[in-house]
Amino acid sequence: MPDRILLTGATGLFGSNFVSRLKKNSRYRITAISRNKIFKNSADHRFLKADITDKKEMIRISEKVSPKIIIHTASLGNVDYCQMHQKEAWLVNVEGTRNIIAAAQKVKAWLIFFSTNAIYDGRKPPYGEDSVRKPVDFYGRTKAVSEDDIRRSKISWVIIRLMTMYGWHQNSQRPNPVTWLISQLEKSRSVKVVNDVYNNHLYVGQAIDAVLKVVGLNKKNDTFNIAGSGCISRFDLALKVADKFHFDRKYIFPVSSNFFSRLAPRPPNTCFSTAKMERELKIKPISADEGLDLMKKEMDPG
Ligand SMILES: NC(=O)c1ccc[n+]([C@@H]2O[C@H](COP(=O)([O-])OP(=O)(O)OC[C@H]3O[C@@H](n4cnc5c(N)ncnc54)[C@H](OP(=O)(O)O)[C@@H]3O)[C@@H](O)[C@H]2O)c1
Repeated sequence: MPDRILLTGATGLFGSNFVSRLKKNSRYRITAISRNKIFKNSADHRFLKADITDKKEMIRISEKVSPKIIIHTASLGNVDYCQMHQKEAWLVNVEGTRNIIAAAQKVKAWLIFFSTNAIYDGRKPPYGEDSVRKPVDFYGRTKAVSEDDIRRSKISWVIIRLMTMYGWHQNSQRPNPVTWLISQLEKSRSVKVVNDVYNNHLYVGQAIDAVLKVVGLNKKNDTFNIAGSGCISRFDLALKVADKFHFDRKYIFPVSSNFFSRLAPRPPNTCFSTAKMERELKIKPISADEGLDLMKKEMDPG
């Protein structure tokens, strides 16, 4: 019997890639939800339109699906949007996650929750699982509150904290640092990229590896920080993207973060320590160069 998974955030960067990767894997039967259904049902996987802020609906769906595992990736992840729309961000990220916890409790499912590098203030990297959490923006605060809600709950849980991710996504979804840059350089647009914000950027395929390892190794009530290798600035990442995808570097200009009058403050360096992910999940983090090569291969598998 395949394991039944209920996935939230079906159309997101992680969700859509997760579903594609498991399309032909008969070990899992996925029911995936988002507010905009964009995939066709197959023999093994089903897609439903649903809103995680609707508690009754979340409980109804989980009772119907009776999943062994709920992978909860749905959230509002745009940091500036969350800063400006705090009520909505709280409703989706905090209350929505509380609804998912209630649904998991009802059917005794194991909950895998996605948190973020934005729970750290970026002043004392590298950040390990036990580093002090001190979010500097509202989005990060919503995730820290949900982490606490999950730890206090009576369900089995795993918290997976993702570093800033990149990879191909559905056209309708929000761009990431790599796809945004490609979309600008394709139009020969000049771009300003910050040279004082550092991350060990995460290729979406490695985030999927981490979830599959957590499931396969039956990890419970534990937290993992998941990232790539190489702590580099957004500007350095941009140069790598230009080189890999054969764009001219001349369109990319370095600026410091205070050049942008953004709504939400940005933590300067939230690079993760990947020691626990390497030791316990046996995942070797890949560099941005390797991740970009994989994206190129996906574009042209031939
Ligand atoms: N991407 C990153 O760099 C990054 C870094 C650290 C942590 N994370 C976390 O990792 C998780 C996955 O990230 P991602 O980049 O894959 O997300 P994403 O691309 O922003 O997608 C978010 C997903 O959530 C769904 N969603 C939003 N509001 C919803 C609601 N009220 N009800 C149901 N579905 C809703 C969206 O679908 P619809 O709009 O169709 O409903 C979409 O499928 C998120 O929890 C994010 O906070 C991401």
